[in-house]
Amino acid sequence: MISSHEQAGASSRGARRAVIRGLGAALPAKVVTNDDLSRVHDTSDEWIQRRTGIRERRHAADGEQTSDLAILAARRALESAGAERAELVVLATTTPDKVCPATAPKVAAVLGLAGVPAFDVSAVCSGFLYALATAAWAIESGSIQSALVIGAETFTRLLDPVDRTTAVIFGDGAGAVHLESGSEAEPGAVLMTRLYADGTDEELIHVPQPDDGAQGSYFQMNGREVFTKAVEAMSASVDSVLGEIGWRRDEVDALIAHQANLRILTAVAHIAGLEAADAEIHLDRVGNTSAASIPLAMAAAAAAGRRRPGDRVVLTAFGGGTTWGAAALTWPELAVIDPH
Ligand code: UT7
Repeated sequence: MISSHEQAGASSRGARRAVIRGLGAALPAKVVTNDDLSRVHDTSDEWIQRRTGIRERRHAADGEQTSDLAILAARRALESAGAERAELVVLATTTPDKVCPATAPKVAAVLGLAGVPAFDVSAVCSGFLYALATAAWAIESGSIQSALVIGAETFTRLLDPVDRTTAVIFGDGAGAVHLESGSEAEPGAVLMTRLYADGTDEELIHVPQPDDGAQGSYFQMNGREVFTKAVEAMSASVDSVLGEIGWRRDEVDALIAHQANLRILTAVAHIAGLEAADAEIHLDRVGNTSAASIPLAMAAAAAAGRRRPGDRVVLTAFGGGTTWGAAALTWPELAVIDPH
């Protein structure tokens, strides 16, 4: 287990926390509906909606890179925060522009932030939580005063063109938050994060290396097993965060979970005892956007006016690695640009 925000003094009111000041999102223009996919794969709108809850997703255009989406989402997050700078850029992605180097330095440079530390985090669908926790630790330590945390993916480029199971789930997009050092009493404070990983299960979600004897280098996922583990891991990490922070179930206003499958979201809310909280559902419009899914869901909630500053919000995710975790925060005061 990693992370221990309470070590920095969560019990003392006014302790230093990373506070979300801005939120932004970016989606590719191209909408791909279930009917579009049914023309290419042996599937149907009825099956996809019934088994996943997804109606449509976005696909990056030819030449549109992860950095393009990341830059747009980050610009919008800066604008929403009324900020021009950040002292750190952390980009969560499974689909960097290049294997080498990382994409974050390029994103930072285009944003006018050349010179600040910038790096990628690779934790697949848990990537945003990992990036958020990393930036929050840096702010809590007093090393920096501000950070940009971005989740961005062109995940559909990893997909096997003949695999209907993954084609129907994944989509492309980006979301970002701007963090500043503040107090835990402020709306938007990231109060606690808990991260976990277990490489024993790394082949549940992976892109085999071509020299592994695999037939290709497309994304592969054991959907059924991932489904079960995702439900268990996300509900257990939510449970753990709630227990440690001391929030009762009925005090949680919203659950914003990684948008993998509607049935997973429903099961996690049920097992974690959060059925009374608003479960943010955004996958119907964008599918599973991996590291971008939590900030995109946050942006959708903000754009629709579903949250009030100070609301108690729990985030959770599960992804390749395997990796998983949860976070507790209060909803920020912000202006957000509608990504749709
Ligand atoms: O984001 C990282 C974590 N990822 C996830 O959380 C994904 C977790 N897994 C899932 O969401 C689900 O397992 C899937 C959506 C991937 C698959 O749904 P499922 O209900 O678990 O389907 P299944 O794999 O158990 O397959 C049931 C049937 C099979 O047919 P038979 O063997 O029963 O005749 C599949 O061949 O559904 C078939 N099937 C499809 N049929 C129509 C699988 N994919 C499709 C499809 N269209 N796209």
